[in-house]
Amino acid sequence: MGDPRLWQKARPVAVFATPDLHILIADMEETMHHLDGAGLAAPQIGVGLRVVIFGFENNPRYPEAESVPYTVLINPVLTPLTDEVEEGWEGCLSVPGLRGLVPRWRTLRYTGFDLFGNPIDRSVEGFHARVVQHECDHLEGILYPMRIRDLRSFGFTDVLDLAQNQETAD
Ligand code: NI
Repeated sequence: MGDPRLWQKARPVAVFATPDLHILIADMEETMHHLDGAGLAAPQIGVGLRVVIFGFENNPRYPEAESVPYTVLINPVLTPLTDEVEEGWEGCLSVPGLRGLVPRWRTLRYTGFDLFGNPIDRSVEGFHARVVQHECDHLEGILYPMRIRDLRSFGFTDVLDLAQNQETAD
């Protein structure tokens, strides 16, 4: 956070399945897995293209979350399916050590393309919908702290864990 490339609107991918696109996605996968991320957007590694990846079986950063299929999503379009919004905890590899309570659409349809230009069209809910919205925000130059409604629900992960454990103990 603080790098101006994170505030820029990313450009659409025009040509699919190129060697450059393969290298970009391999690079993103490596970064995401190395940092135990639930997802990653190209601008987070300094590339201003509309490419996001996400998905995991079990994620130590989000132990409660249901699994999300591994997905490469290019030139995404998001459409909320209802006006229902729910708040949930998010972190971001570009904002290390912190966590915040962020409002997101609960159900969502997303469309876009995979690495080879094959269309993707899914309707999802819950954490899957949350992850997609978080990653696609990166393509608009939005980081999750900008969406937090009450900054008292934003803090250091270890301090928040401590506070929560004390609450449970009381
Ligand atoms: Ni992020």
